[in-house]
Amino acid sequence: MAPRTFIRRCAGLTALAISMAAPALVQAQALVPDVQRGQQLVESRCFACHSLDANRAGPALRGVVGRKAGKAEGYFFSEAMAAATHTWTVAGLKAWLTNPEKVVPGQEMNYYLTEARDREDVVAYLASVSKPAQK
Ligand code: HEC
Repeated sequence: MAPRTFIRRCAGLTALAISMAAPALVQAQALVPDVQRGQQLVESRCFACHSLDANRAGPALRGVVGRKAGKAEGYFFSEAMAAATHTWTVAGLKAWLTNPEKVVPGQEMNYYLTEARDREDVVAYLASVSKPAQK
């Protein structure tokens, strides 16, 4: 094999190795949610309608992980949400934030996050504030 051809082949293999490794790296990042970034996202995207401890246009979000859907105290849910029987989990909230209508048809939130990374971080933050406020 001429040395030049050899070099070219090696370069090709390196490029291939990088292209195969890249998706794995992206996935690894997605698995480590950033709670602080999640807090910023919740404050900028969700607090237009929600807060942690008060019901606004949407129900209070503190403690939502592990809470029964559609049962936040003192909040008047849509019929569809009030009839929901599931308990919010991390996975369930990610699904909700991907497409609420698919999780609870007839719900009235009609807001979602298009980026998987944003959903990861938002739900990680919600899970981190899932204990009732200290009084
Ligand atoms: C435009 C207003 C609006 C925005 C923005 C919004 N929500 Fe909501 N959200 C609502 C409403 C209204 C409901 C109640 C829906 C119903 O009763 O059908 C709700 C319900 C929910 C519920 C169900 C709570 C429960 O107790 O079952 C969760 C969880 C939730 N929102 C999370 C979020 C998150 C996280 C964001 C930001 C990424 C967000 N929402 C952004 C209006 C909004």
